[in-house]
Amino acid sequence: MNNDILKTLYSEQDIENACKRLGDQITTDYQGKNPIVIGVLKGAIFFMTDLVRDIDLYMDIDFIDVSSYHGGTHSSGSIELMKDIDIDVKGRNILFVEDIIDTGRTLKYLEDLLEDRGAKSIKVCTLMDKPEGRVVEAKADYVGLEVPNEFVVGYGLDYVGKYRNLPYVGVLKPEVYSDK
Ligand code: PRP
Ligand code: MN
Ligand code: MG
Repeated sequence: MNNDILKTLYSEQDIENACKRLGDQITTDYQGKNPIVIGVLKGAIFFMTDLVRDIDLYMDIDFIDVSSYHGGTHSSGSIELMKDIDIDVKGRNILFVEDIIDTGRTLKYLEDLLEDRGAKSIKVCTLMDKPEGRVVEAKADYVGLEVPNEFVVGYGLDYVGKYRNLPYVGVLKPEVYSDK
């Protein structure tokens, strides 16, 4: 698997540093707010589990599963809700945790969904932001790392379902796309 990687974009240490920095900031900003921290499956699983352990607050944790890429390299444009959250969000402070914001469609969908359900506040923490990829307006409140307009894998991000378990973030060799 590691052999399919052309270059490392962010190392395990880079990711750890970003988690610590964001965790400290969120700890400060959410004092007394008892947030619901919602991880967006599947890409955000690793970031979610690392980030919340760097936040020193009482919180509820939940997960939502939406999919738009259906495993490929391009956003399909249509978002599907695969698994909903369990907790009632009415009047609550919500913090979404994402691995990456690219076109912005997923985030827009999630924000609209919880706004309709009466959340008190909705913010977003993303490990990676790809500003050049935006198709709809979407902005993260907390950003760990910026990525260039390249398709990246690892630390939760997949290509046809694979590479999520790489501990770092990298770019695939071009031949991987045509062969598999
Ligand atoms: C990826 C990624 C983000 C979203 C970002 O998820 O994990 O959730 O796309 O892209 P966008 O800003 O263009 O909407 P994906 O739909 O591939 O599902 P996954 O997390 O299960 O891989
Ligand atoms: Mn995702
Ligand atoms: Mg994906």
